[in-house]
Amino acid sequence: MAIILDGKKLRDKILEELRIQIDKFEKKPTLVVILVGDNPASKIYVNNKKKIAEKIGINSTVINYSSNVTEQEILSKIEELNNDKNITAILVQLPLPDNISKEKIINAISPSKDVDGFTPYNFGKLFSGEKPIVYPCTPKGVLLLLDEYEINLEGKHAVVIGRSNIVGRPMAQMLLNRNATVTICHSKTKNLSDIIKTADVVISAVGKNIIKGEMLKSDCVVVDVGIFKDNNGKTRGDVDFESASKIASYISPVPGGIGPMTITSLMLNTVELFAKHSEKF
Ligand code: GUN
Repeated sequence: MAIILDGKKLRDKILEELRIQIDKFEKKPTLVVILVGDNPASKIYVNNKKKIAEKIGINSTVINYSSNVTEQEILSKIEELNNDKNITAILVQLPLPDNISKEKIINAISPSKDVDGFTPYNFGKLFSGEKPIVYPCTPKGVLLLLDEYEINLEGKHAVVIGRSNIVGRPMAQMLLNRNATVTICHSKTKNLSDIIKTADVVISAVGKNIIKGEMLKSDCVVVDVGIFKDNNGKTRGDVDFESASKIASYISPVPGGIGPMTITSLMLNTVELFAKHSEKF
């Protein structure tokens, strides 16, 4: 049976360390989350971010716009936040409604307050093999969890399924930085099963139940980033946990695996930006 990659346990440990660190700060970091529209999943994520931030001493404000807000209104708000010395970090919750340009909005965030690491400056740094100011939260959380279990990635064949800017693309790049041999698969990949069968590490971020135990190589490491509700309203990941946990050596559960690690990375990134601002970044 596979060892469970316990994201909740690591989250609790890191957040407690952060809480103690923040407690010593004279001034507290401030995270602003911009939420547009009423996507129910986004609302839950955003409330969770705020709750956890406040629990460890980070000030958190959510600006919730209705879905008919104009792009210009959001851009003006971002400019105001960029120029406000009291604001440490800005996060625009994705997805945005179709009438709002995600690129325009993200590009407007000052790279020094870009807590997701999604702006062209930070993405460009990451993809050119340099250090961004902070790393994107979900891939960072995946690596923190793999490191906690001392899973070495060097020379391993890592297969990333999904090519989103939030997970797949930065994940692949960060695995490459760790000297893994990386394959990115996506909806047009023809021989997905053949590729998965050769993977030492499988990282799936699709949002559909696509991976069964019999598709995996013996003793591989499985990281399940997908999360969705099935027809019965049950929270599920991309991986069939029961069959996969019999083949893999390590596996992250859903829930309780990468979800808690993403939030942990967001808190770490907020504190990193705060420290960099006080170094007069
Ligand atoms: N939506 C889902 N995951 C994320 C994330 O990590 N950052 C942002 N901004 N939006 C998201």
